[in-house]
Amino acid sequence: MNNLSGQSVLITGASSGFGEAIAWQFAQVGAHVALVARREEKLRALADRIEPLGGRALVCPCDVGDEAQVRASVEKTFTELGPIDVLVNNAGMNVSNRSIADTTTADWRQVLDVNLISAYLFTNLILPRMKARGVGTIINVASRAANYPSLLAGVAYSSAKMGMQALNQITNQEGNPHGVRACVINPGVAATPILDRRPSPPPQEARKLMMQAEDIAATVLYAASLSPRANADRIDLYPTNTEVS
Ligand SMILES: NC(=O)c1ccc[n+]([C@@H]2O[C@H](COP(=O)([O-])OP(=O)(O)OC[C@H]3O[C@@H](n4cnc5c(N)ncnc54)[C@H](OP(=O)(O)O)[C@@H]3O)[C@@H](O)[C@H]2O)c1
Repeated sequence: MNNLSGQSVLITGASSGFGEAIAWQFAQVGAHVALVARREEKLRALADRIEPLGGRALVCPCDVGDEAQVRASVEKTFTELGPIDVLVNNAGMNVSNRSIADTTTADWRQVLDVNLISAYLFTNLILPRMKARGVGTIINVASRAANYPSLLAGVAYSSAKMGMQALNQITNQEGNPHGVRACVINPGVAATPILDRRPSPPPQEARKLMMQAEDIAATVLYAASLSPRANADRIDLYPTNTEVS
Protein backbone atom coordinates (compact mmCIF):
# COMPACT_ATOMS: atom_id res chain seq x y z
CA MET A 1 0.00 0.00 0.00
CA ASN A 2 0.96 3.62 -0.54
CA ASN A 3 0.93 5.29 2.90
CA LEU A 4 -0.73 8.67 2.34
CA SER A 5 0.22 10.06 5.77
CA GLY A 6 2.51 13.05 5.31
CA GLN A 7 1.96 13.19 1.54
CA SER A 8 0.98 16.44 -0.20
CA VAL A 9 -2.23 16.41 -2.18
CA LEU A 10 -3.57 19.22 -4.39
CA ILE A 11 -7.35 19.05 -4.93
CA THR A 12 -9.17 21.31 -7.37
CA GLY A 13 -12.82 22.12 -6.69
CA ALA A 14 -12.29 21.63 -2.94
CA SER A 15 -14.97 24.10 -1.83
CA SER A 16 -17.96 21.80 -2.43
CA GLY A 17 -19.23 18.31 -3.24
CA PHE A 18 -16.65 15.67 -4.22
CA GLY A 19 -13.62 17.93 -3.76
CA GLU A 20 -14.55 18.88 -0.21
CA ALA A 21 -15.10 15.21 0.70
CA ILE A 22 -11.85 14.18 -1.02
CA ALA A 23 -9.86 16.78 0.93
CA TRP A 24 -11.49 15.73 4.19
CA GLN A 25 -10.76 12.03 3.64
CA PHE A 26 -7.10 12.68 2.67
CA ALA A 27 -6.71 14.83 5.78
CA GLN A 28 -8.18 12.07 7.93
CA VAL A 29 -5.37 9.71 6.88
CA GLY A 30 -2.72 12.31 7.69
CA ALA A 31 -2.10 13.95 4.31
CA HIS A 32 -1.41 17.67 3.79
CA VAL A 33 -3.89 19.21 1.40
CA ALA A 34 -3.89 22.21 -0.94
CA LEU A 35 -7.46 23.40 -1.41
CA VAL A 36 -8.13 25.03 -4.80
CA ALA A 37 -11.40 26.75 -5.82
CA ARG A 38 -12.79 30.27 -6.25
CA ARG A 39 -14.84 30.59 -3.01
CA GLU A 40 -12.19 31.45 -0.43
CA GLU A 41 -14.59 31.51 2.53
CA LYS A 42 -15.64 27.91 1.85
CA LEU A 43 -12.00 26.82 1.58
CA ARG A 44 -11.16 28.60 4.86
CA ALA A 45 -14.06 26.91 6.66
CA LEU A 46 -12.83 23.51 5.41
CA ALA A 47 -9.23 24.30 6.39
CA ASP A 48 -10.46 25.20 9.89
CA ARG A 49 -12.12 21.78 10.15
CA ILE A 50 -9.06 19.95 8.81
CA GLU A 51 -6.25 21.56 10.79
CA PRO A 52 -7.25 20.02 14.18
CA LEU A 53 -6.63 16.63 12.53
CA GLY A 54 -2.91 17.48 12.49
CA GLY A 55 -2.11 17.94 8.80
CA ARG A 56 -1.74 21.22 6.93
CA ALA A 57 -4.53 22.69 4.82
CA LEU A 58 -3.38 25.34 2.37
CA VAL A 59 -6.07 27.66 1.02
CA CYS A 60 -5.52 28.53 -2.66
CA PRO A 61 -8.26 30.78 -4.03
CA CYS A 62 -8.12 30.27 -7.79
CA ASP A 63 -10.23 30.38 -10.92
CA VAL A 64 -8.99 27.24 -12.67
CA GLY A 65 -10.00 28.75 -16.01
CA ASP A 66 -7.26 31.37 -15.59
CA GLU A 67 -3.80 30.06 -16.45
CA ALA A 68 -1.94 32.65 -14.35
CA GLN A 69 -4.03 31.76 -11.28
CA VAL A 70 -3.45 28.04 -11.85
CA ARG A 71 0.30 28.64 -12.09
CA ALA A 72 0.24 30.71 -8.87
CA SER A 73 -1.65 28.07 -6.88
CA VAL A 74 0.72 25.30 -8.03
CA GLU A 75 3.79 27.37 -7.10
CA LYS A 76 2.24 28.28 -3.73
CA THR A 77 1.67 24.58 -3.03
CA PHE A 78 5.25 23.59 -3.92
CA THR A 79 6.59 26.40 -1.75
CA GLU A 80 4.37 25.73 1.27
CA LEU A 81 3.83 21.95 1.18
CA GLY A 82 6.84 20.68 -0.81
CA PRO A 83 6.61 18.21 -3.73
CA ILE A 84 3.07 17.26 -4.75
CA ASP A 85 2.50 13.51 -4.39
CA VAL A 86 -1.11 13.43 -5.56
CA LEU A 87 -2.98 15.78 -7.92
CA VAL A 88 -6.77 15.47 -8.06
CA ASN A 89 -8.25 17.24 -11.10
CA ASN A 90 -11.81 17.51 -9.83
CA ALA A 91 -13.04 21.07 -10.48
CA GLY A 92 -15.98 21.09 -12.84
CA MET A 93 -19.21 22.76 -13.76
CA ASN A 94 -22.03 22.52 -16.24
CA VAL A 95 -24.31 25.00 -17.97
CA SER A 96 -28.07 24.76 -18.20
CA ASN A 97 -27.98 24.76 -22.01
CA ARG A 98 -27.35 21.14 -22.97
CA SER A 99 -28.26 20.66 -26.66
CA ILE A 100 -26.18 21.81 -29.62
CA ALA A 101 -29.09 24.05 -30.57
CA ASP A 102 -29.06 25.85 -27.20
CA THR A 103 -25.35 25.84 -26.36
CA THR A 104 -23.65 29.18 -26.99
CA THR A 105 -19.99 29.56 -27.87
CA ALA A 106 -19.51 31.15 -24.43
CA ASP A 107 -21.12 28.09 -22.76
CA TRP A 108 -18.88 25.75 -24.76
CA ARG A 109 -15.69 27.65 -23.90
CA GLN A 110 -16.55 27.93 -20.20
CA VAL A 111 -17.32 24.22 -19.81
CA LEU A 112 -14.14 23.19 -21.63
CA ASP A 113 -12.01 25.72 -19.72
CA VAL A 114 -13.16 24.65 -16.27
CA ASN A 115 -13.48 20.89 -16.79
CA LEU A 116 -10.81 20.01 -19.36
CA ILE A 117 -8.29 22.78 -19.98
CA SER A 118 -7.78 23.25 -16.24
CA ALA A 119 -6.93 19.54 -15.86
CA TYR A 120 -4.42 19.91 -18.67
CA LEU A 121 -2.86 23.02 -17.06
CA PHE A 122 -2.41 21.40 -13.65
CA THR A 123 -1.04 18.23 -15.26
CA ASN A 124 1.30 20.22 -17.49
CA LEU A 125 2.76 22.00 -14.46
CA ILE A 126 2.95 19.07 -12.04
CA LEU A 127 3.70 15.98 -14.18
CA PRO A 128 7.29 17.02 -15.07
CA ARG A 129 8.17 17.35 -11.38
CA MET A 130 6.55 13.99 -10.56
CA LYS A 131 8.53 12.38 -13.40
CA ALA A 132 11.76 13.93 -12.09
CA ARG A 133 11.08 12.40 -8.64
CA GLY A 134 10.06 9.05 -10.14
CA VAL A 135 6.72 8.92 -8.31
CA GLY A 136 3.29 10.52 -8.29
CA THR A 137 -0.42 9.95 -8.80
CA ILE A 138 -2.79 12.06 -10.89
CA ILE A 139 -6.51 11.43 -10.50
CA ASN A 140 -8.92 12.86 -13.06
CA VAL A 141 -12.57 13.07 -12.03
CA ALA A 142 -14.44 12.77 -15.33
CA SER A 143 -17.98 11.36 -15.58
CA ARG A 144 -20.19 8.57 -16.80
CA ALA A 145 -20.81 11.03 -19.65
CA ALA A 146 -17.27 10.25 -20.82
CA ASN A 147 -18.42 6.70 -21.55
CA TYR A 148 -22.00 7.56 -22.53
CA PRO A 149 -22.24 11.12 -23.89
CA SER A 150 -25.82 12.27 -23.42
CA LEU A 151 -28.16 15.20 -23.90
CA LEU A 152 -28.91 15.07 -20.16
CA ALA A 153 -25.24 15.82 -19.45
CA GLY A 154 -24.98 18.11 -22.46
CA VAL A 155 -22.79 18.39 -25.53
CA ALA A 156 -20.11 20.61 -23.98
CA TYR A 157 -19.88 18.65 -20.71
CA SER A 158 -19.82 15.24 -22.44
CA SER A 159 -17.11 16.45 -24.81
CA ALA A 160 -15.02 17.85 -21.97
CA LYS A 161 -15.26 14.63 -19.96
CA MET A 162 -14.36 12.47 -22.98
CA GLY A 163 -11.36 14.74 -23.39
CA MET A 164 -10.31 14.00 -19.81
CA GLN A 165 -10.15 10.30 -20.68
CA ALA A 166 -7.74 11.11 -23.52
CA LEU A 167 -5.69 13.31 -21.20
CA ASN A 168 -5.55 10.47 -18.68
CA GLN A 169 -4.31 7.98 -21.29
CA ILE A 170 -1.58 10.29 -22.55
CA THR A 171 -0.57 11.09 -18.96
CA ASN A 172 -0.04 7.37 -18.43
CA GLN A 173 1.93 7.00 -21.67
CA GLU A 174 4.25 9.84 -20.62
CA GLY A 175 4.26 9.16 -16.90
CA ASN A 176 4.35 5.37 -16.49
CA PRO A 177 7.96 4.96 -17.71
CA HIS A 178 8.94 7.40 -14.92
CA GLY A 179 6.89 5.88 -12.09
CA VAL A 180 3.93 8.28 -12.43
CA ARG A 181 0.40 6.94 -12.84
CA ALA A 182 -2.93 8.49 -13.80
CA CYS A 183 -6.41 7.26 -12.93
CA VAL A 184 -9.64 8.54 -14.44
CA ILE A 185 -12.75 8.06 -12.29
CA ASN A 186 -16.09 8.19 -14.09
CA PRO A 187 -18.86 8.72 -11.55
CA GLY A 188 -22.51 8.34 -12.39
CA VAL A 189 -24.95 10.67 -10.74
CA ALA A 190 -24.22 11.79 -7.16
CA ALA A 191 -26.04 14.24 -4.91
CA THR A 192 -24.05 17.49 -5.03
CA PRO A 193 -24.89 21.11 -5.91
CA ILE A 194 -23.86 20.59 -9.56
CA LEU A 195 -27.29 18.99 -10.11
CA ASP A 196 -28.94 22.37 -9.48
CA ARG A 197 -27.71 23.46 -12.93
CA ARG A 198 -29.85 20.87 -14.70
CA PRO A 199 -32.78 22.27 -16.66
CA SER A 200 -34.99 20.18 -14.28
CA PRO A 201 -33.07 19.71 -11.00
CA PRO A 202 -33.90 16.38 -9.29
CA PRO A 203 -36.04 16.54 -6.11
CA GLN A 204 -34.53 15.92 -2.66
CA GLU A 205 -36.07 12.42 -2.40
CA ALA A 206 -34.32 11.37 -5.62
CA ARG A 207 -31.01 12.78 -4.36
CA LYS A 208 -31.14 10.53 -1.29
CA LEU A 209 -31.05 7.46 -3.59
CA MET A 210 -27.97 8.67 -5.47
CA MET A 211 -24.32 8.18 -4.63
CA GLN A 212 -22.98 10.74 -2.15
CA ALA A 213 -19.76 12.76 -2.31
CA GLU A 214 -18.12 10.51 0.30
CA ASP A 215 -18.49 7.51 -2.07
CA ILE A 216 -16.46 9.22 -4.78
CA ALA A 217 -13.92 10.45 -2.19
CA ALA A 218 -13.42 6.87 -0.92
CA THR A 219 -12.71 5.77 -4.51
CA VAL A 220 -10.13 8.52 -4.99
CA LEU A 221 -8.44 7.48 -1.72
CA TYR A 222 -8.48 3.85 -2.87
CA ALA A 223 -6.74 4.68 -6.17
CA ALA A 224 -4.14 6.86 -4.45
CA SER A 225 -3.41 4.32 -1.72
CA LEU A 226 -2.62 1.43 -4.09
CA SER A 227 1.02 0.38 -4.15
CA PRO A 228 2.93 2.64 -6.60
CA ARG A 229 3.55 -0.45 -8.74
CA ALA A 230 -0.20 -0.75 -9.52
CA ASN A 231 -2.41 1.67 -11.45
CA ALA A 232 -6.21 1.75 -11.42
CA ASP A 233 -6.17 3.27 -14.91
CA ARG A 234 -9.93 3.81 -15.13
CA ILE A 235 -12.71 3.35 -12.60
CA ASP A 236 -16.38 3.50 -13.60
CA LEU A 237 -18.41 4.20 -10.45
CA TYR A 238 -22.16 4.03 -10.99
CA PRO A 239 -25.10 4.06 -8.56
CA THR A 240 -26.32 0.61 -7.53
CA ASN A 241 -29.87 1.89 -7.91
CA THR A 242 -30.25 2.04 -11.69
CA GLU A 243 -33.47 4.09 -11.42
CA VAL A 244 -31.55 7.29 -10.55
CA SER A 245 -29.94 9.39 -13.28
N1 LIG B 1 -22.32 15.16 -8.95
C1 LIG B 1 -22.37 14.39 -10.02
O1 LIG B 1 -23.42 13.76 -10.32
C2 LIG B 1 -21.16 14.19 -10.87
C3 LIG B 1 -21.10 13.05 -11.68
C4 LIG B 1 -19.99 12.85 -12.48
C5 LIG B 1 -18.93 13.76 -12.45
N2 LIG B 1 -18.99 14.86 -11.64
C6 LIG B 1 -17.84 15.77 -11.65
O2 LIG B 1 -17.30 15.81 -10.35
C7 LIG B 1 -16.58 17.03 -10.16
C8 LIG B 1 -17.02 17.67 -8.86
O3 LIG B 1 -18.39 18.06 -9.01
P1 LIG B 1 -19.40 18.07 -7.79
O4 LIG B 1 -20.47 17.13 -8.13
O5 LIG B 1 -18.68 17.92 -6.51
O6 LIG B 1 -20.02 19.55 -7.97
P2 LIG B 1 -20.02 20.84 -7.04
O7 LIG B 1 -20.44 20.50 -5.66
O8 LIG B 1 -20.77 21.85 -7.81
O9 LIG B 1 -18.46 21.27 -6.97
C9 LIG B 1 -17.79 21.81 -8.07
C10 LIG B 1 -16.45 22.35 -7.61
O10 LIG B 1 -15.75 22.87 -8.75
C11 LIG B 1 -15.31 24.18 -8.42
N3 LIG B 1 -15.25 25.05 -9.58
C12 LIG B 1 -16.22 25.29 -10.50
N4 LIG B 1 -15.81 26.24 -11.35
C13 LIG B 1 -14.56 26.59 -10.97
C14 LIG B 1 -13.61 27.55 -11.43
N5 LIG B 1 -13.84 28.32 -12.52
N6 LIG B 1 -12.43 27.65 -10.79
C15 LIG B 1 -12.18 26.90 -9.70
N7 LIG B 1 -13.02 25.98 -9.22
C16 LIG B 1 -14.20 25.84 -9.85
C17 LIG B 1 -16.32 24.72 -7.40
O11 LIG B 1 -15.69 25.70 -6.60
P3 LIG B 1 -16.00 27.29 -6.64
O12 LIG B 1 -17.39 27.48 -7.10
O13 LIG B 1 -15.75 27.72 -5.22
O14 LIG B 1 -14.98 27.84 -7.58
C18 LIG B 1 -16.60 23.46 -6.60
O15 LIG B 1 -15.64 23.31 -5.58
C19 LIG B 1 -16.87 17.87 -11.40
O16 LIG B 1 -15.79 17.78 -12.29
C20 LIG B 1 -18.11 17.21 -11.99
O17 LIG B 1 -18.20 17.43 -13.37
C21 LIG B 1 -20.08 15.09 -10.84
